Amino acid sequence: MLFTAMCSRKKITISTLRARKRERQKISMLTCYDYTTARLMEEAQVDSLLLGDTYAEVCLGHPTTLPATIDHLVTVAEAVRRGAPTAYLVGDMPFLSYQVCVEEAIRNAGLFMAKAGCDCVKVEVDRRLVKTVEAMATASIPVMAHLGLKPQSIQSLGGYMVQGKMAADALRIIEDAKMMEVAGAIALLLEAVPMELARIITESTALPVIGCVSGPYCDGQVVVLHDMLGYGAGHPPRSVKQYANLRDQLVDAFRSYSTDVKEGAFPVPDASASMKPAQLEELNKALEELRAHPKECGTGL
Ligand code: KIV
Repeated sequence: MLFTAMCSRKKITISTLRARKRERQKISMLTCYDYTTARLMEEAQVDSLLLGDTYAEVCLGHPTTLPATIDHLVTVAEAVRRGAPTAYLVGDMPFLSYQVCVEEAIRNAGLFMAKAGCDCVKVEVDRRLVKTVEAMATASIPVMAHLGLKPQSIQSLGGYMVQGKMAADALRIIEDAKMMEVAGAIALLLEAVPMELARIITESTALPVIGCVSGPYCDGQVVVLHDMLGYGAGHPPRSVKQYANLRDQLVDAFRSYSTDVKEGAFPVPDASASMKPAQLEELNKALEELRAHPKECGTGL
């Protein structure tokens, strides 16, 4: 409550995002996986935060997003919301939290909305999930429809590659986007599609469209935090601009710390708590007494 009062901007809502699109002002979005980083993003006035299922990769060390679970992501989303009360918070529905049946989709999405205070949920979709999106919209759950490259389908796709490069595939994605709009989605996210396709979809819908490595023409952009910070264990994708090289800075810091500890340079007496001389003298006397009569005192000092 106190932190909300300290925030200098008004809550970002879907109306804010729609107005941005109308006024041709871009929307900034980053993935976020913890309270502390969320506070910093709030301070930096990032418009929207995505608690992405990439959590499974960048925070838990899995090779794909598939092992992310609803309980885990909702808990982390709660922490992100505490750190960023005014950002537009998107909860990413993990693998099998919405594909099994409509009832489960609604119940799981409800956790993001009611427990974590998300503003909407994101689902990786195509036309086969129109009924699910419709049912979620009917249940007053705002849905961001994620089209193009869908990392939860990685095993069927056979790899992370740009989607919609061929005209027929592009047309199918355009139709899917339209179907999602008709089904009641409130925003779209296009991952790894050619920029021409991203432009056609963005210009043909009133929904805010967020791009992820899909070129400059979408209404907003999202990237994985670790990629833009140079904070990953490996190399970030070529298409993501790096705004820092935290990886090298952190390795240097960890190495210096480790060396300092091993060489006795940290901690130093000057920065450590100490006892008053009289207390130390009393303690030493008591210890002498214990050593002189170890059996009586029941100690081996
Ligand atoms: O989970 C995620 O981080 C995402 C973005 C890559 C769009 O879905």
